[in-house]
Amino acid sequence: QDDACQERIVAAKAKLGKRLVILGHHYQRDDVIRHADFTGDSLKLSRQAADSEAEYIVFCGVHFMAEVADILSRPEQISILPDLSAGCSMADMASLAKVERAWRELKTVLDPDQSVTPVTYINSAADLKAFCGEHGGIVCTSSNATRILDWSFAQREKVLFFPDQNLGRWSGFKMGIPLDEMVLWDYDQPMGGLTPEQIRKARIILWKGLCSVHQMFQPQHIENFRAQHPDGLVISHPECSFEVCQLSDYVGSTEYIIKTIAESKPGTHWLVGTELNLVNRLANRFKPEGKTVQFMSSTVCMCSTMARIDPQHLAWVLENLVAGKVVNRTTVPPQEAELARLSLQRMLDAS
Ligand code: 13P
Ligand code: SF4
Repeated sequence: QDDACQERIVAAKAKLGKRLVILGHHYQRDDVIRHADFTGDSLKLSRQAADSEAEYIVFCGVHFMAEVADILSRPEQISILPDLSAGCSMADMASLAKVERAWRELKTVLDPDQSVTPVTYINSAADLKAFCGEHGGIVCTSSNATRILDWSFAQREKVLFFPDQNLGRWSGFKMGIPLDEMVLWDYDQPMGGLTPEQIRKARIILWKGLCSVHQMFQPQHIENFRAQHPDGLVISHPECSFEVCQLSDYVGSTEYIIKTIAESKPGTHWLVGTELNLVNRLANRFKPEGKTVQFMSSTVCMCSTMARIDPQHLAWVLENLVAGKVVNRTTVPPQEAELARLSLQRMLDAS
């Protein structure tokens, strides 16, 4: 049955030819990503979506990625997410209502439109990207966050960074911002649980969001690895906790992780703090070169929503396209898309 499904995908893809492009994020399962025309991290895939000439962009990833493809492509191009329930739990931790409330509350202390650049991680809904577009803000990804913070501080003295506190904190730290100048905005409390004094002193206000997958990696995992493999190297995604990033030899996006391991010396023993599908794929790919790639946690850390994109859903959307029917289209309302495009374009121009 699995083989039959794979054949159905290949056959439908062949029939659609250049009318179709399949984009695959690195966290996708093997039996899906093998059908991708392009693979990449969020930044690379955003650029692919913007540059694509295909009529149909089928995004094997999560919802915000398909939204970005819709925003950056031309109006007649169609962005499709094979399973519409493939969301991102981190993206869900920031909503427009809560960010607007934070903006209003900040207004009681300072004028945020004069002194705060809103920065949204690309792992966020389109309306938050639109909010950033409207308020002089910008989008960032895991591979350009420090450059985007540089851009942001060139506009205004403070940053409100959402939804991922870990990416914001690590990027700020790398730029030399002291930890006590970064404060955590608890969106469930009035004024984020902060005093006016704390807000006035802060350079970066970090939203209290995180990735449920990457939070599973712990300093103890790295300490155990180092005890067993003193010459080994540790590489982590910046969505990991600050402590994990600090203990790692390298920190970067999925694309950076792949490139760094590819360029390492044969015989290197790697410990990798990111999603399991990618780490397993890297272990198999680099084994013939004598490199050992080990997953950071002893428990399974998979992105369950990424995994919702399975061969069955992919075959289903492609066969519908062959039959002239579009299913699972992802669209962003035009006004929202226009403002979101502004903040995405600022990012593409700045990175
Ligand atoms: P990358 O842009 O590094 O691929 O990260 C996307 C993501 O969702 C990581 O959890
Ligand atoms: Fe979202 Fe985390 Fe999954 Fe990435 S790994 S898509 S941040 S839940």
